[in-house]
Amino acid sequence: MTTPGRGGAAPAPAVLDLEDLGLDRGGHLLVERALAGLAPGERLAVSGRAPELAVHLRAWCRNQGHTLVDHPAPGSISGDEPGPPPAAAVTNGDRVEAWIVRGTAADDRWRGAQRTGAADPVRPGAVAETAASTWGVAARGALVEAGSPAFPFPLDHRSMVWTDDAPRYYRQAAAAQWDPATAVPWETPVDLPAEVEAAVIQVMTYLVENEQAALAVPARFLGRVHPHFREVVQVLAVQIADEARHVEVFTRRATLKGAELGRSSAGGQASLLTLLEEPDFALAHFLLSVLGEGTFLALLSFIERHAPDPVTAAVARLALADEARHVAFGMAHLGAVVTSDPGQRARLAAAIHRRHDALASTVGLNADVVDALVVLAAGSFTPRAVAEGFTRVQALEAEMADGRRRRLTRLGFSPGEAGALSALHTRNFM
Ligand SMILES: [Fe+2]
Ligand SMILES: [Fe+2]
Repeated sequence: MTTPGRGGAAPAPAVLDLEDLGLDRGGHLLVERALAGLAPGERLAVSGRAPELAVHLRAWCRNQGHTLVDHPAPGSISGDEPGPPPAAAVTNGDRVEAWIVRGTAADDRWRGAQRTGAADPVRPGAVAETAASTWGVAARGALVEAGSPAFPFPLDHRSMVWTDDAPRYYRQAAAAQWDPATAVPWETPVDLPAEVEAAVIQVMTYLVENEQAALAVPARFLGRVHPHFREVVQVLAVQIADEARHVEVFTRRATLKGAELGRSSAGGQASLLTLLEEPDFALAHFLLSVLGEGTFLALLSFIERHAPDPVTAAVARLALADEARHVAFGMAHLGAVVTSDPGQRARLAAAIHRRHDALASTVGLNADVVDALVVLAAGSFTPRAVAEGFTRVQALEAEMADGRRRRLTRLGFSPGEAGALSALHTRNFM
């Protein structure tokens, strides 16, 4: 396209020769590009030889809010003055020549459109306090046309979901994905005494149900977080993938020798049900990631340390690394929640009390799991070894409680509050 010099009362039109490119084969891109440099009311002289070009130009102009007028003198598309607009573009042999007068409809269409923050979360104002339902699934930073449909994403306030650490946690999580097929030494021979193998299977059986709950909780909220808070959605998505791998590798270790799985207790499942039933995202994230997965850090570390075979040690170690990220993200999110509104601490404490009360009539912990942990920590079946195993499991429970106290203190609870709340945590650990 060329734009002839402008001067005098009637500027010469810009010129575009489409040659044999039709509007049905992308020609509209060149027309749009040529019109973009014009103000409403200015003309573009367009010509071309594509079949049906006149018909296509007329339909396209009508759709786009431009006006198609015929060129007054076929063969002289750089002429200065438009004549009175005839009814159709002029066909000169197989060549079409016409003027397009730029309309305002294309601008009107985007009037009222809204820029939804910025893709890059570190830019000022990138993440809004409230994400409009009509931003829907549009990319953050996109220009969203007015009249876009409203999407039901109830977690649409920054204070509900956002932490500035989310992009960093997402990058870390994406980089730390491991392949269950190759990360675990499945081919290593495992030949344990039957009671020890049974203890491993019982622990794995327990881990699988806890992993299923840890998968289901973020999955419940994933589709409810407004996509404007993209990195939070991404962290949750990867967390769910992490839990899926944990379910896989714990199941695979449990079934390594072809034996049947262990027991799932009513108390354990009742505890996990209270997690799944928590309707508030912040509270569910608190109970799951700060308290439950936080407690599991000590448990998985214990299992790795006392694993009787390399496969068991590997699956515990791999899951532990993922869980450390889940806990860190939970702490970052809940830290942001209580920083923006210190009154939220009372809600967190109330959630612990509510869950404790709901589980008051249940045992809460699968006794078979504790016994299995004692067996693993004992290493043999002498009275002295079992006593040592028992002591180690007691130390594990103390370490778990200590971890909960530390995390609660970091969220701003006093040492006294943190100790009391830690003691009310479910006996199921998760
Ligand atoms: Fe997990
Ligand atoms: Fe987890």
